Amino acid sequence: MSTAKKEYKRVTVKSLVEMKSNGEKISMLTAYDYSMAKIVDAAQVDVILVGDSASNVMAGHETTLPITLDQMIYHASSVIRAVERALVVVDLPFGSYQSDPKEALRSAIRIMKESGAHAVKVEGGLEIKDSVKRILAAGIPVMGHLGLTPQSIYKFGTYTVRAKEEEEAQKLLEDAAMLEKLGCFGIVLEKIPAELTKKVSEKLTIPTIGIGGGKHADGQVLVVHDLLGMTHEFNPRFLRRYMNLYEEMGSAISNYVKDVKSMDFPNDEEQY
Ligand code: KIV
Repeated sequence: MSTAKKEYKRVTVKSLVEMKSNGEKISMLTAYDYSMAKIVDAAQVDVILVGDSASNVMAGHETTLPITLDQMIYHASSVIRAVERALVVVDLPFGSYQSDPKEALRSAIRIMKESGAHAVKVEGGLEIKDSVKRILAAGIPVMGHLGLTPQSIYKFGTYTVRAKEEEEAQKLLEDAAMLEKLGCFGIVLEKIPAELTKKVSEKLTIPTIGIGGGKHADGQVLVVHDLLGMTHEFNPRFLRRYMNLYEEMGSAISNYVKDVKSMDFPNDEEQY
């Protein structure tokens, strides 16, 4: 397996397809605000996703459904102001692209114009074909998202692994091929069997980005708060935590409280 890594000063949708053909895996992480995006970008993450998971991790909603287009634009603008290298992809939120292609295009244009983002992401296959076509026709790069699509959580009923059965797996393969044919530059595959990710990734020339899709995806994405261990109650099998920030931040903050109460903070050097 090649580990060669070409330097990219600025990652574009073309760079991602090139990475796939060079056998270089793509790293993608979420960010929703300026400070986090600065850190993520400086760490050379290739793609920053302003995910509608902001609805969960930033706003505390149970699902991704409540977040609005205005709120996504606010998060995306904050991220864009921080980023120098990564490609910034923004989720079109629930209700902003499913009902008709004209509305989908208007929503995508608002994101691109008002935040300065580089691309949008949408969930679904055949059902949203006309919306995807319309957005692409305006010159806006589109990333697909198949498998577990959290905007459809009330249709699925649970967050368990998708496409384990032949019929759903076959539809996913067809949807992926269709999204590539339409002109999408990549597809997120969420919570599907590793063997299915392998099949899709081998079939497509555009990259697949897995989250709970196993090692055969052309890249991986995680929610940054999960990777850093800030969301300590969320423990799916696919998640690798690189820190336990929930505990570390909690203990730093308790130390601050203790120091304020004991009048240890501020000391003579920490005042004017
Ligand atoms: O909103 C999000 O964070 C996502 C990722 C889980 C891929 O769509």
